Amino acid sequence: MEVERVQNIATLSIHSNTIPIDFIRPETEQPALTTFHGDDIPDIPTIDLSNPDQQNLVKLISEASQEWGMFQVVNHGIPSELISELQSVGKEFFLLPQEEKEKCAKVPGSQSYEGYGTKLQKEVNGKKGWVDHLFHRIWPPSQINHKFWPLNPPSYRETNEEYTKYMRVVADKLFTLLSLGLGVEGNVMKEAFGGEEVEYMLKINYYPPCPRPDLALGLTPHTDLSSLTILLPNEVPGLQVLKDERWIDAKYIPNALIVHIGDQIQIASNGRYKSVLHRTTVDKERTRMSWPVFLEPPAECEVGPLPQLVTQDNPPKYKVKKFKDYAYCKLNGLPQ
Ligand code: OGA
Ligand code: NI
Repeated sequence: MEVERVQNIATLSIHSNTIPIDFIRPETEQPALTTFHGDDIPDIPTIDLSNPDQQNLVKLISEASQEWGMFQVVNHGIPSELISELQSVGKEFFLLPQEEKEKCAKVPGSQSYEGYGTKLQKEVNGKKGWVDHLFHRIWPPSQINHKFWPLNPPSYRETNEEYTKYMRVVADKLFTLLSLGLGVEGNVMKEAFGGEEVEYMLKINYYPPCPRPDLALGLTPHTDLSSLTILLPNEVPGLQVLKDERWIDAKYIPNALIVHIGDQIQIASNGRYKSVLHRTTVDKERTRMSWPVFLEPPAECEVGPLPQLVTQDNPPKYKVKKFKDYAYCKLNGLPQ
């Protein structure tokens, strides 16, 4: 049976003012009714990663991770030409004919979520998100399956490999700063998540224009399963974060990366750093795209509160779990 891709549904509904009922959220979730538009909208913190004052940098990142669980970083060292290139090869893939894209399709029934697809998690109410995606690992080389990397455009591979080199430097720096912010040695967090075996899973989200952006969502509220997520957005806003019970838009800053604290860091920090609840809205005329890189521990890696942080006064708040078991429970809606 032909799989329905949101991109095709969007093309069919382009001249209409309606969307299929499966995409209409209940009122309690509709973005038009639940987005906060006050005068005093606080901004997600923006942090300059080139700040030479490391102590200050540690403080800013640690505060943002405790209060928001999300921050934007600028001056991260990834050249802007490379960012444009990455975005253009990703966009070219989604503009290929459907049968070309399907060559990278997810393997039905497979445990892995790598590949081109439409839906990650079953929603209890049967509703759908207005988004398609492509997932593939970009690091370490032993875990890469090129079957899921587009062959078209031809420069896709080289551009993604180049981006990966820079992404690893940014990730290492963030892990170090986040460790120091907890008062432990700089290498502790990366080691806790698998050291050199940390897996980098790239996702491209493709949110086509939607005739009723007031009623639909791209991704429903969730926290990321990863340790850390480092996301590159395009210029179309849509990412929202829940702060003090209000849904707030992340503003678009050209070339900035948006860092999310994921579940594994919340666990390792014994709840100090917050795994942030976020969702995405869609746009009436424009295609939104984003490139999150999920930093995941290897399947067998056991993650629990760092022993350095656990004391009699600060008992462990979470159980130690293998990453694969945690992921299985979360993706199947079981208690973690
Ligand atoms: C995700 C996600 C946000 C975005 O893919 O997990 O939260 O801006 N994406 O697309
Ligand atoms: Ni997310």
